[in-house]
Amino acid sequence: MTRRIFVTTALPYANGPFHIGHIMEYIQADIWVRFQRMQGHQLHFVCADDAHGAPIMLKAEAEGVTPQQLVARIAAGRQRYLTGFHLSFDHWYSTDSPENTRLSQDVYARLKSAGLIYKKDIEQFFDPVKGMFLPDRYIKGECPNCHSRDQFGDACEVCGTVYAPTDLIDPYSALSGATPVLKSSEHFFFRLSDPKCVGFLESWLAAPGRLQPQVVNKAREWLSGSGDRGLSDWDISRDAPYFGIPIPDAPGKYFYVWLDAPIGYLAALQNYFTSGKARANGETRGFEEFLAAPDTEQIHFIGKDIIYFHTLFWPAMLRFAGAPYKVPNHVFVHGFITVSGEKMSKSRGTGISPLRYLEVGMNAEWLRYYIAAKLNASVEDLDFNAQDFLARVNSDLVGKYVNIASRAASFITRHFGGALRYGGDTGQLTARAAAQAALVRESYESRELGKAMRDVMGVADHINQEFDARQPWVLARDPERAAELQDVCSRALAGFKLLSVRLAPVLPAVAERVARQLFGLERPFRWSDAAVLPERVNPYEHLMTRVEPRQLEALFESDVPAAAASPATTAGSSKTAATRAAPASASASASASASASGLAGTAISIDEFRRVDLRVARIVHAEAVAGADKLLKLTLDLGTETRNVFAGIKSAYDPAALEGRLTVMVANLAPRKMKFGVSEGMVLAASGAGPGLYLLAPDSGAAPGMKIT
Ligand code: MSP
Ligand code: ZN
Repeated sequence: MTRRIFVTTALPYANGPFHIGHIMEYIQADIWVRFQRMQGHQLHFVCADDAHGAPIMLKAEAEGVTPQQLVARIAAGRQRYLTGFHLSFDHWYSTDSPENTRLSQDVYARLKSAGLIYKKDIEQFFDPVKGMFLPDRYIKGECPNCHSRDQFGDACEVCGTVYAPTDLIDPYSALSGATPVLKSSEHFFFRLSDPKCVGFLESWLAAPGRLQPQVVNKAREWLSGSGDRGLSDWDISRDAPYFGIPIPDAPGKYFYVWLDAPIGYLAALQNYFTSGKARANGETRGFEEFLAAPDTEQIHFIGKDIIYFHTLFWPAMLRFAGAPYKVPNHVFVHGFITVSGEKMSKSRGTGISPLRYLEVGMNAEWLRYYIAAKLNASVEDLDFNAQDFLARVNSDLVGKYVNIASRAASFITRHFGGALRYGGDTGQLTARAAAQAALVRESYESRELGKAMRDVMGVADHINQEFDARQPWVLARDPERAAELQDVCSRALAGFKLLSVRLAPVLPAVAERVARQLFGLERPFRWSDAAVLPERVNPYEHLMTRVEPRQLEALFESDVPAAAASPATTAGSSKTAATRAAPASASASASASASASGLAGTAISIDEFRRVDLRVARIVHAEAVAGADKLLKLTLDLGTETRNVFAGIKSAYDPAALEGRLTVMVANLAPRKMKFGVSEGMVLAASGAGPGLYLLAPDSGAAPGMKIT
């Protein structure tokens, strides 16, 4: 029976380029989707940019562009990554769209008719310095549940609890650092505490096989709460100024971004239907009919930090909105990718830059394989470790897999003109393919990708052992044993074809080359191709190179921690000063490193030092400067204003990786007119005699605009 499956990945915020966490999520989902397509099922794989919300509005404001312009710029950069990592989305859309406006307002109207919406005056944090209600993400403080510090106002990144910003202990404004004051305003609420909602969610969570056990446990904890705290009602409105969807008949009120974001899944699907792409993909029904159909499976891949929204709010919204809306069949949750054991910051997006990965010429399929090999169906985190990556890719993909084809095919081409012939019984070959099919299929289906890869590599080991045991290189020297040689190589190549089919969801480009080029098929592999013994091969063409240690070095180059910075020298200083990235010797921390050139003539008084206005700044945007090979143009957010600064740090930093980072700037430096524009200050970086340039960064908790004293 053909399954009809609508699959999404979480909609990434449109305030920055993809980071490795996004790519990991997409790779996991893409492998699952490709596997299902190979089974002959009908898949509709869509995603969109999550465009709304205060952070995007504020970032746009800081850059002096409209939110729409900001979102459009980010959207324009997406395709490079999607193509680069072989991510086969059928459609990519945006939550800032007419479909999403209409659907969100529709869902809201239905919830209202169901008696689940009410209005209430609430006290909310207001930033007296910035003069606006503070969005949750701009209020920080201590988590009321686990007492972790510097948590955002909407949810704790440490324990996952979702709460109101007013629940935070010792709150402060991340925009100005000011202590926020409470101000009253009318808000709209979704009555999640209603017994019919709670009852529904209990049964939804209990459906066998719908969710991973750890996810059910987490959601149940929230649902029943601890002690007398059950599920609270959900505040779904925000006051102007806000970049979002207006609430009908409520001037100045907008839907909170988390209301319209998941509806964005449906908006993307709808646009995919109306654009004709769904039809081109074999779907004959219309959007609503498809959505409502009992045989349509709706599946969301998400990370563990957004379980709350997807297992409580989202199903409740869909259920009480009614047909054609339908609750999700599954929400598949993955853990976080860490790099060498270190947690990647969501806002800073450090770790591995996916763009840099592609730019240094690393093969996307290495990463796809590595991630697959380390993933299972649990919500455990997954670590990217450079040594492990190199060893696994080189030994499994190159040493075990590709090696079979390169060795066996050359004998077949040289001695038999490409013809394969199997001596004796081929039953064992087909039996192996059949047994494997069921085993690996089950692993893919249940997202036990690590197990699937281990089983596939186990077969590769077998094939290599059989091949080596019969010593084809000895057979090749004896014309009387030609039939034997042909048999050994044919079996190895039949095995290689089997492996290629099984790996195709993970290695789509390699598998397609194997299908078309080596085996002369006119289409990519289908799952059932594994059982068909090949009769011919074309001359082997190169399939995959080994990972070189220097590629990994290049990948991590821009991520050397600042602690590695060496003392500044005069040579380094004058060079960087010329491009207005300050040398370390000009910075507040100079005393520790100034010994190199002697201090006598340069001592300054504390008052002189205080004349330098050093501030924490957030790099909200970074870009290369056309015609300048050393410069990056940085847009710095100082909390109350933004500045443009040209910094000579291009050799050391990928602009995308800088966005969102905090650094230190000299805020009262006289503006300087340069060939490319006016530089309104400078950022501080350390450099030494050798190459390498290290931007300074404050400890976590620092906010833009803070004075450095
Ligand atoms: N915009 C919301 C999702 C709305 S869905 C209706 C959001 N965006 S996000 O850009 O912050 O995250 C998008 C996805 O990336 C989420 O599933 C999140 O869990 C995932 N990841 C973010 N960091 C990650 C890692 N370090 N590792 C793996 N996935 C991670 O949340
Ligand atoms: Zn917590």
